[in-house]
Amino acid sequence: MTLIDPDTGLDPLDFEVTKNLAAVPAAQREEILANPGFGTRFTDHMVDICWSVRGGWHRPRVTPYGPLSLDPASAVLHYGQEVFEGIKAYRHADGSIHTFRPDQNGRRLQRSARRLALPELPVEYFVQSLRELVTVDKDWVPSGPDQSLYLRPFMFAKEAFLGVRPAHKVGYYVIASPAGSYFTGGVDPVTIWLSEDYARAGKGGTGAAKTGGNYAASLLPQSEAYENECDQVVFLDEHRNVEELGGMNIVFVHKDGTVVTPMSPSILEGITRNSILQLAEDRGHKIEGRPVSLEEWREGVASGDIVEVFACGTAAVITPIGGLKGRDFYEEQPAGDLALSLREELTDIQYGRREDKHGWLVRLDA
Ligand code: PLP
Ligand code: COI
Repeated sequence: MTLIDPDTGLDPLDFEVTKNLAAVPAAQREEILANPGFGTRFTDHMVDICWSVRGGWHRPRVTPYGPLSLDPASAVLHYGQEVFEGIKAYRHADGSIHTFRPDQNGRRLQRSARRLALPELPVEYFVQSLRELVTVDKDWVPSGPDQSLYLRPFMFAKEAFLGVRPAHKVGYYVIASPAGSYFTGGVDPVTIWLSEDYARAGKGGTGAAKTGGNYAASLLPQSEAYENECDQVVFLDEHRNVEELGGMNIVFVHKDGTVVTPMSPSILEGITRNSILQLAEDRGHKIEGRPVSLEEWREGVASGDIVEVFACGTAAVITPIGGLKGRDFYEEQPAGDLALSLREELTDIQYGRREDKHGWLVRLDA
């Protein structure tokens, strides 16, 4: 298969494909696909590419899905040198399989890798790796409403060495998991817990990188959120500006139609967020990416200037926020209809039900 843009001059990787002889039987797979949940079941295969200082990217393989064998001294287990991505494959009505803006995820993986002193996988190889896996596991892409195949590319330091320096040996992998809604309530509004004691990122830190450590830092506050009957946690920066949720960006809609989202070097640059801003701008909304203080949020809701707040990300798509809870307050959030209307427009594009005016879709199965 020649899959690589000839303009880049990169030869496609020649993947060695080993079929899983113990693949999940079709009837069992269909049962899983009927109700996939999120992130609990995995397809029959995975991608594995090696990198070393001396050999660069080499040994691209599609192998049966299964446990990795790691030296206990592997650097990732001690120093967390790891980055990952999240992107979905969507089945269209004609059976074809497409993904959404994979160049953006590929570039973000490169930026994350740079920050974590990991090697940068060429974007063309990133896209090819998704295509290789989806081609082998295409029967795992579900076709029910709002279902998709969630792809999880990740890269980590596997050199066995306890000295603290960037590893000389790295592995890049892609696994895939059939997915329904991230939240059990589907698109029902979620309640957000305000993390007043903990931050996920700091100035000059790794907040803009998609790296495991940021998520590790979010787990204790996320547990606080669950204890307080909230679905997600929202983080602030040192100036009490709103950053993002544990696994999603946040967007505010103002009475005059302006759509505002916090932007700063410590926030993950969400591809869903950027796409929604584009769709809102196409509809004539004014768009602002700027610091948003907690006071602006709370006062805006109280005065009626903020008419809607929602969360967005690959896993969550677009989910309205119905409440904000802190240690000593609870504030209901206003319900509007922009979140759900943008969700419909975005998912219509992703599932091939509406024209893809921006050329965001990339076919994976052909
Ligand atoms: N912020 C965080 C911390 C995330 O984990 C995610 C999800 O990937 C996002 C924002 C949204 O990013 P995207 O829309 O690219 O999935
Ligand atoms: C994604 O949306 O892809 C993420 O990585 C976030 C996580 C909550 C699953």
